[in-house]
Amino acid sequence: MKINPAEIDLILLSASVQVDLFCCADRDGSTPLQNFLTRHALDNQKKKLSTTWIIVKKSDPKVPLGYFSLACASIDVNDLDAVDLKGCPTFERFPALLIGKFAVDDRYQKTGLGTLLMDYVYAITIRLSGITGCRYLIVESKPTSTWFYEEKCNFIRVRELDGGNVLFYKNVLTLTN
Ligand SMILES: CC(C)(COP(=O)(O)OP(=O)(O)OC[C@H]1O[C@@H](n2cnc3c(N)ncnc32)[C@H](O)[C@@H]1OP(=O)(O)O)[C@@H](O)C(=O)NCCC(=O)NCCS
Repeated sequence: MKINPAEIDLILLSASVQVDLFCCADRDGSTPLQNFLTRHALDNQKKKLSTTWIIVKKSDPKVPLGYFSLACASIDVNDLDAVDLKGCPTFERFPALLIGKFAVDDRYQKTGLGTLLMDYVYAITIRLSGITGCRYLIVESKPTSTWFYEEKCNFIRVRELDGGNVLFYKNVLTLTN
């Protein structure tokens, strides 16, 4: 069943969020996205390595249903399609925002929260791009999640990276125009 977006809030991770309640396992049973949230996300945020944003139900504002982590990054000119470089100077790298982590709790997947979470990423990206150069949104997707970025969110597939993840980008101009 779909979750009503009006029931959901986005909050910045803080010590009051009950991260231990978050469950997210890969197909092989490993839990890297759960572990990041429970063990590293707050520490990374304090160290200014990434910020982590959590979606919660307004009625249960300490229980994380999904999250994403963001960090400043850049993308190589050779990873971009010519159409997305039109009118740009000949830089070797372009400013980007990296979606470092992105996950919905196992019990809430396929209820629309992933799509809603991405809408929040877009909103933050648009605000950020009004403050600092940020031309692309990038993500290194696990092979099992490429459908989400490619088919649901219309990111551009770039290439497979060492280790098997797949690099995707979205031109921020397509969010603002
Ligand atoms: C990938 C992920 C974030 C998607 O979130 P979600 O909440 O399940 O996604 P949503 O419910 O918003 O959207 C799912 C939609 O994709 C469709 N879908 C589901 N599996 C699909 C597949 N294999 N191929 C294509 N479409 C698929 C669903 O039918 C649904 O369509 P609808 O919106 O028309 O109903 C979530 O599954 C997740 O957290 N997975 C584990 C962690 C992960 O892989 N994160 C990404 C790391 S890079």
